[in-house]
Amino acid sequence: MTGTTSGSRLQLPRYLREDASLRTPVGFPDYKSTGLRAPLRTPVDLPHRLTEITGPVLGEDRVVQQDTDLTWRNGGEAVGQRILVHGRVLDSDGRPVPDALVEVWQANAAGRYRHVVDNWPAPLDPHFDGLGRVVTDSLGRYEFLTIKPGAYPWGNHHNAWRPAHIHFSLFGRAFTQRLVTQMYFPDDPLFGQDPIYNAIPAAARHRAISRFDLERTQDNWALAFQWDIVLRGTDQTPFETDDDGDVA
Ligand SMILES: [Fe+2]
Repeated sequence: MTGTTSGSRLQLPRYLREDASLRTPVGFPDYKSTGLRAPLRTPVDLPHRLTEITGPVLGEDRVVQQDTDLTWRNGGEAVGQRILVHGRVLDSDGRPVPDALVEVWQANAAGRYRHVVDNWPAPLDPHFDGLGRVVTDSLGRYEFLTIKPGAYPWGNHHNAWRPAHIHFSLFGRAFTQRLVTQMYFPDDPLFGQDPIYNAIPAAARHRAISRFDLERTQDNWALAFQWDIVLRGTDQTPFETDDDGDVA
């Protein structure tokens, strides 16, 4: 879909706006800290002008191969269940998004982040920093090797535990395609008591859960999970509207 800017013959693409019923709300009472930061006024949709429909230029040389392997840091191997996480980044028409920057961060196998404000009594792993990044290939594919993150307590309510998850940030071809979200694992027993997961409209929750991928498991090495990510449009992955507020 294209449009003409007023006073210009420049043809600019327009990105679909998500259905309001499928938006994750910016504030929801069960997630206590959102009460302190959610906007009190109704958000206004900005028009798509040049700033919104262009994006950052991300040279592949800024991302190196080691960035895709989170299991090896500081000269040693991280503790935990090795998993290959892979998928495709697609746009609203199902077309692959090449050259998208995919950044991930996660807790270690014990459920602890290497972060100054994460000080609950779970061990840190000297060989795991929980940070990775990759640029999608010409078919929109990404993959990285990591360890399965543990659940962690977060104090939102009594005995509150986050389901295992990996944080994702994506830059597509335009700033309107910026996505910050979380990937979950199938059949997590903690889904029912997690207000962040349950803030996603019920019809869209399954899109935040990865699929166990037997075909991509590696013999004597790693399990595999597959997760496709859709930027904008009726099939989009549920957006977080702001930093989720838990520890990193
Ligand atoms: Fe987290």
